[in-house]
Amino acid sequence: MSLFPLPLRPEDQRLVDRLLAQMTLQEKIGQMTQPEKNSVRPGDVARLGLGSVLSGGGGNPDPNTPQSWREMVSALCEEAQGSRLGIPLIYGVDAVHGHNNVVGATIFPHNIGLGATRNPDLVRRIGRATALEVAATGVRWTFAPAVSLPQDIRWGRSYEGYGQDPEVVSPLAVALIEGLRGEAWNDPTSVLPSVKHFVADGGTAYGTSQRVDHATLEVDRTLAIAQMGESLVELVDQGAWQIDQGDSLIDEATLRAVHLPPYQAAIEAGALNVMVSYSAWHGIKLHGHRFLITDVLKGELGFEGFVVSDWAGVDQIHPDDYGRSVIDSINAGVDMVMVPFDAERFIAALRDGVERGEVSVQRIDDAVRRILTAKAALGLFEQPQTDPALLNTVGSEAHRDLAREAVRESLVLLKNGNGTLPLSRTGELLVVGEAADDIGAQCGGWTITWMGGHGATTPGTSILGGLQAELGQDRVHYSADASGEGVFPVAVAVVAEEPYAEGMGDRAELCLSPKQLQMLERARKRCDHLVVVLLSGRPLIVTEPLVGWDAFVAAWLPGTEGRGVAEVLCGRHPFKGRLSFDWPRSQGDLARTPNAQHLWTVGEGLNTGVSGAVSV
Ligand code: GLC
Repeated sequence: MSLFPLPLRPEDQRLVDRLLAQMTLQEKIGQMTQPEKNSVRPGDVARLGLGSVLSGGGGNPDPNTPQSWREMVSALCEEAQGSRLGIPLIYGVDAVHGHNNVVGATIFPHNIGLGATRNPDLVRRIGRATALEVAATGVRWTFAPAVSLPQDIRWGRSYEGYGQDPEVVSPLAVALIEGLRGEAWNDPTSVLPSVKHFVADGGTAYGTSQRVDHATLEVDRTLAIAQMGESLVELVDQGAWQIDQGDSLIDEATLRAVHLPPYQAAIEAGALNVMVSYSAWHGIKLHGHRFLITDVLKGELGFEGFVVSDWAGVDQIHPDDYGRSVIDSINAGVDMVMVPFDAERFIAALRDGVERGEVSVQRIDDAVRRILTAKAALGLFEQPQTDPALLNTVGSEAHRDLAREAVRESLVLLKNGNGTLPLSRTGELLVVGEAADDIGAQCGGWTITWMGGHGATTPGTSILGGLQAELGQDRVHYSADASGEGVFPVAVAVVAEEPYAEGMGDRAELCLSPKQLQMLERARKRCDHLVVVLLSGRPLIVTEPLVGWDAFVAAWLPGTEGRGVAEVLCGRHPFKGRLSFDWPRSQGDLARTPNAQHLWTVGEGLNTGVSGAVSV
């Protein structure tokens, strides 16, 4: 039973009942419609009675500041208040590691790093901090946590998973939900979590994705808007869009044992929204899967909240028949559709389906009741706008300190030969690697833009900056490509995966590039002890080059607070992180199969003590 059980307070229940009785079919279908913000013209919210609007990855206002975000969202919320029944609008974003679309917001480690902390209290505090920064911009819904359990790390969304085992994922997902909720769902700073992507999104088989036609490389509207065309040509040969949104060919016992438990835990913690996966299960798209959405999620697990589709996920059910796709998704149990481009096309398709008797009024009423119940639970009818004073929390020192704490606890020390770490606080240090001074590389995908980027994409501290702060500028020598003269007692080399998101990050092979390996070779010749720090969204195959490294740290995608890495390298804090993913030995071991060989397995990670007194 949910810890925050529905039904609602009596007055809220009466409100929902009254509204349902007053609403026209058009208004009911409007509540089930979620376009993206660039597809909404002034007046559409009131005219169509839209229930929600979203920003997709990188769906930012210009300028991209917390204030302009708040202005954009508040204007849409005010329009909704002016509609016939004044049903409040709820705005949704992907705040998956902080309010990550917003320049200046605190960016926390991606979930793969939080999984290494095994610390629900820390994740709960991250949820609370994220909720404050999200609510500051008028937003009350985030499409997080992903409770994906990536079983094949060739998947470009591996880093969105806390880990590969439900016993690691469930407590952290519940903690994030509790942090986003705060004291109660109707707390004006609570933010609605979206537990995603239902179900077994991390269980798909490599080579089964149909999102992109690898022959024609035609890009759909989403990829065209995101200007993925050129990079697609370059990356498809490396495996882009081979596994994301593919087919989970697992049996029901595995689906129930591995992929379902985090949803049960989330529902018991009071989750009010679930997002459906693009993937299929034995060839049937989840967006049209009545058994899993209605019979299992809503029936067996007792989910009383509402189910939202993924971005144009409905369209994929029958690619050549949008009307049939809409009808099948709603009848399967989808309650709100992330359209995202053409709200009126969706509204007309569903209205036609109802008028033809292919979608029952009872199904529509059930969907709208679930949506209104969640809005009432959040207190949106009483407080449709958030407190602007919250803007002071965005990127605050307290939140950045929390992010640094998370970075420290997320680091996993996998090799430490000759007592290389922690670094001595005296003597000279060489730092090498472009990624040592690259906030974008630290943050990865879903940061400011959908795919993420390089350089100072948002305020933060690089690992190099952190080391200079810890050891003093004059003792830290930097060479991005490790060129230069002189041999140092220790060199810290930082290498990173190129930022990516979703299927753009699918890869056939996971390894360091020749350019990175050559840089590491140069670094090896310029130091007595070589420390390699890897910034990545998943384990990479390092078996061979590892031999030449004295120490090796998995830092995952730590976010804006790179000083957290420096504090642990320099012994101000100990290494505590534990792997939440198996670490494959070779390219043949990337999928988690019984005969896969691993360098390290879930739970492994070395400790170091604190290296004595440290200067402030
Ligand atoms: C994306 C993702 C989903 C995200 C949604 C809105 O395609 O699959 O995780 O929440 O669209 O950006």
